[in-house]
Amino acid sequence: GGKLIGYVCYSPVFLKSTYDVSGYILSPLAVSPEYQSQGVGSALINSGIDMLTKDGVGVLLVYGDPNYYQRFGFKEEIGRLFVPPYPLTYPVGWTGMTLNAITTSGTPTKFDCVSALSKPALW
Ligand SMILES: CC(C)(COP(=O)(O)OP(=O)(O)OC[C@H]1O[C@@H](n2cnc3c(N)ncnc32)[C@H](O)[C@@H]1OP(=O)(O)O)[C@@H](O)C(=O)NCCC(=O)NCCS
Repeated sequence: GGKLIGYVCYSPVFLKSTYDVSGYILSPLAVSPEYQSQGVGSALINSGIDMLTKDGVGVLLVYGDPNYYQRFGFKEEIGRLFVPPYPLTYPVGWTGMTLNAITTSGTPTKFDCVSALSKPALW
């Protein structure tokens, strides 16, 4: 009905390595309180995963409650391969998932993100 009830943003990450991996970060995600627990958040995440997978993106990263995000396939061991630009207040919340096959040496790589997320207080 034209009412905004939820929002999600996916933005690219810029790896500081020679890894040939296209990465995105999911942030922010929010659903209006009166519309929560009706599948809106899951729909915003699953449709993003579908779009990014079709676009050939290799990895999707997220910083949030792992109790929520793990149901979509986000895993701590994928997050560990990609080192955020700022120290994390809640390291347990840093996870990732592969969408298409990726090749890495297994050595964690640092990355930069878009300017809207380049604020230490967000991490
Ligand atoms: C997290 C959020 C986006 C989920 O949106 P939603 O539309 O309610 O999500 P869904 O309907 O797809 O899923 C709801 C389920 O997730 C669960 N859930 C919500 N937040 C959770 C959390 N932090 N940890 C574990 N489970 C969580 C709900 O209990 C519900 O469980 P159920 O399916 O067993 O009933 C919404 O609660 C929100 O906007 N929260 C405030 C902002 C926020 O925390 N954003 C994420 C920042 S990383």
